[in-house]
Amino acid sequence: MTTQAARVREMFGSIAARYDIANHLLSCGIDFSWRERAARIVTDWHPHSIADLATGTGDLALALQKKLPDAEIAGVDFLQPVLGDAMNLPFGDGSFDCVTIAFGLRNLENCTAALGEMSRVIKSNGHLLVLEFSLPTTPILRALYRFYLHRCLPLLGSSLTGEKNAYDYLGDSIEEFPSGEAMCQLMVENGFTSPTFKPLTGGIVTIYTATKQ
Ligand SMILES: C[S@@+](CC[C@H](N)C(=O)[O-])C[C@H]1O[C@@H](n2cnc3c(N)ncnc32)[C@H](O)[C@@H]1O
Repeated sequence: MTTQAARVREMFGSIAARYDIANHLLSCGIDFSWRERAARIVTDWHPHSIADLATGTGDLALALQKKLPDAEIAGVDFLQPVLGDAMNLPFGDGSFDCVTIAFGLRNLENCTAALGEMSRVIKSNGHLLVLEFSLPTTPILRALYRFYLHRCLPLLGSSLTGEKNAYDYLGDSIEEFPSGEAMCQLMVENGFTSPTFKPLTGGIVTIYTATKQ
C-alpha cells in the first residue's frame, strides 16, 4: 500500500464512528436525499446483484436494500465485514448486475484503475452509479460553496470529529477531482458507454451513471 492509500485508510479509520453523524449534521441531512435519489435510479435497473464499493457504514447499501429487498448486496470497504480494495476487487469478471460507489471514488489512489476494475466485475449491459461531491458551476454559488468548504467545514468538522485534517482533505480532494463531462469521459475510456451526469443541490454533488459495454 502506498503512503497516500495508507493515509486515506488511516484517516477514515480514525473518524468512521463519528463520520456518519458529522456528515448528516454538516449536510443538514440532505445526504439522505442524495442516496435516496441514487437508490431510485438503481431500482429502475432491477439488478439482482450489487456491489457497493467504499461502503463505509453502509448508508447507500441500506438505502438500496430497502428498495430492493431481494437483491444480493455486497458492501466492500477496507473497514467493513466484506473486506476489499476497490482497486483490486476480490470478485470474478462479470459478477454483478450493478456497482455503486458513493463518496468513495474521489478517495481512491487511482480513480482510472478503479473504474477499470468496476467495469471488469460488472456483467455486460450492467450498470455503474457513482455519487460524488462536485463544485457548483454557477459563479456565485461556487464562490459561496468554496468559502464553506475551505473555511467553515474544517472548523465544524473538527469540532464534531476531532479530525480537522479529514475535512481539509475533503475540500482539496473535491477541487482536484474530475467532474461532469470529464468524469463521463473517464468512464468511457474505461469500458463504459452512455455516461450521464446529474448535478444535485446546486451542483455540490453529482450522480453519474454508465453502462458496461
Ligand atoms: C467517505 S466514505 C464513504 C462511505 C459511504 N459510501 C457513504 O456513502 O457515506 C469513504 C470510504 O471509502 C473507503 N475506502 C477508501 N479507500 C478504499 C479502497 N481502496 N477500497 C475500499 N474502500 C476504500 C474508506 O474506508 C471509507 O469507508
